[in-house]
Amino acid sequence: MTTSTKLFLGVVLLALVGGVGWFAKPPIGYNNDYAPDQPIPYSHALHAGKYQIPCQYCHSNVEKSKHATVPALSVCMNCHQIGIRQVAGKQSPWLEKLNQAYEAGESIPWVKVHMLPDHAHFNHKRHVGAGVSCQECHGKIQEAAVVKQVQDLSMGWCVNCHRKPENNASINCSTCHY
Ligand code: HEC
Ligand code: HEC
Ligand code: HEC
Ligand code: HEC
Ligand code: HEC
Repeated sequence: MTTSTKLFLGVVLLALVGGVGWFAKPPIGYNNDYAPDQPIPYSHALHAGKYQIPCQYCHSNVEKSKHATVPALSVCMNCHQIGIRQVAGKQSPWLEKLNQAYEAGESIPWVKVHMLPDHAHFNHKRHVGAGVSCQECHGKIQEAAVVKQVQDLSMGWCVNCHRKPENNASINCSTCHY
């Protein structure tokens, strides 16, 4: 049992003994609308929208694992190494930066947008496998120039969807906390 799990179980016990205030917790402190600046102004609207590159071309782990993961620079370089380096007939400084990082063997320090606490476990594979669309949880990313968290990712949000009869998804505590 990890320290965070122990701590978490302690909190659950306290909550149960103490008469359970946390189910009614207002959505304060959740990261709704969080849209941090990124080191390179990568745009989903351009790539996944205008050019219709499929989500899984870049997020290739969503069907296979818990984590969707953000693509390695080499995926970008399929198009930007020799091919597309200019935009509107001009050398793009951002694509220049991408190439410099690649040649130096560095990666782009993307800022993570969505983040659950350690005690709650999410699994992409299960949801994508059950036919839940990316947009249901992440909004219309293919229209967004900057990624924004559109759902609060609260326990209530998860459980309310699991409860829908057509989803046939478990609401046992141990489904998400283990
Ligand atoms: C050409 C590659 C590419 C394609 C195609 C792409 N993405 Fe992304 N995606 C990225 C990169 C790079 C990031 C990290 C930078 C950022 O957050 O803008 C990212 C970030 C994200 C994030 C936020 C991750 C976090 O930090 O929490 C989500 C959610 C996401 N993409 C969903 C999608 C969906 C849904 C689609 C299809 C509609 C899609 N992406 C298509 C490259 C891509
Ligand atoms: C049922 C809701 C749901 C669906 C459907 C979903 N995601 Fe997510 N996504 C999440 C949650 C919750 C997180 C945060 C996970 C964490 O912090 O452990 C996340 C995180 C991500 C991240 C950040 C990296 C990671 O793995 O934590 C990317 C990229 C992403 N999602 C892309 C996608 C793409 C692409 C699809 C569709 C193929 C998709 N997601 C479908 C809820 C969802
Ligand atoms: C399948 C091909 C393809 C892939 C893969 C791809 N791009 Fe692009 N990218 C394009 C196209 C096409 C343009 C638009 C060029 C234009 O408008 O002339 C573009 C434009 C851009 C721009 C805009 C540059 C500017 O100065 O306006 C950035 C930044 C960018 N891409 C970053 C990335 C990153 C980061 C990745 C990897 C996560 C990536 N691209 C992966 C095809 C791709
Ligand atoms: C839009 C609806 C929806 C939302 C939102 C949602 N889920 Fe799910 N979840 C499902 C469906 C559908 C399944 C698949 C049920 C099945 O077929 O096993 C599932 C399955 C799971 C499983 C796998 C269960 C198992 O038996 O292994 C976990 C874990 C899980 N969800 C966690 C979460 C967490 C954590 C969140 C919130 C961060 C969340 N889910 C949000 C619909 C949703
Ligand atoms: C479908 C997934 C899911 C199920 C089922 C679930 N939880 Fe959660 N739980 C979450 C997520 C995601 C969070 C983190 C977000 C939040 O705090 O709302 C969380 C947070 C919590 C917290 C911390 C709240 C806080 O104030 O930080 C407690 C305590 C908790 N859950 C207890 C439970 C108990 C007890 C059960 C069973 C009755 C349960 N959970 C079932 C997903 C789930």
